[in-house]
Amino acid sequence: LLPNDLQGCRILVTAGPTREEVDPVRYITNYSSGKMGYAIAEAAAKRGATVTLVTGPTSLQVPDGVKCVPVSSAEEMRSAVLNNFTATDVVIKAAAVADYRPAERGANKLKKKEDELVLRLEKNPDILAELGAQKGERILIGFAAETERLLAHAAEKLQKKNLDMIVANDVSAEGAGFDVDTNIVRFLFADGRVDELELMKKEQVALRLLDQVEKLWKAKQQ
Ligand code: C5P
Repeated sequence: LLPNDLQGCRILVTAGPTREEVDPVRYITNYSSGKMGYAIAEAAAKRGATVTLVTGPTSLQVPDGVKCVPVSSAEEMRSAVLNNFTATDVVIKAAAVADYRPAERGANKLKKKEDELVLRLEKNPDILAELGAQKGERILIGFAAETERLLAHAAEKLQKKNLDMIVANDVSAEGAGFDVDTNIVRFLFADGRVDELELMKKEQVALRLLDQVEKLWKAKQQ
């Protein structure tokens, strides 16, 4: 049985990949399954939090007691997150937002013509960085999925995006990252602390993360 220690805490979780349309039948995406974000949303609701889950396309079931806002592109995710930001105490951004999107989206299916096709991409908005710039008293938590120089890259994002905490995971390690049930993560905090966790189920990672959320949230209330 879980404690009811997040009662009164309004948590916004983002999960899953985003889909960036090329034309009406094609899109660019990544391997995110949404499992980590859904596990966090489920555990937070069980611990009494009011949970909104903004999710890209996944094959997962929305956990009981969670308000779900389904989105597809990064642009849609941004709108949904901003719409819910005012009434939020904690944002946990577990989504794997596509960094780029096709610069032009054809109204019709692209035709096969020459041997080579050049697709021009433009940058998507960085949602979390935007939230960081207007965070107020909120707690912001990000994820950093990396394949190299994990801690350095995660620490840089923590600082640049004005986060309270970042969850660093090496997505190239066995049993970690996208589309598996386990993860190996490190928590990095704004005050420089680093907490290393062993390999564990994503549900377990979610509970450990929420223990930190609870502490950060309680500390803000004092
Ligand atoms: O893509 P990046 O490694 O910078 O992602 C780090 C954090 O920023 C993640 O929590 C991710 O959800 C968030 N992010 C975002 N909008 C983007 C890219 C990333 O909110 N366009």
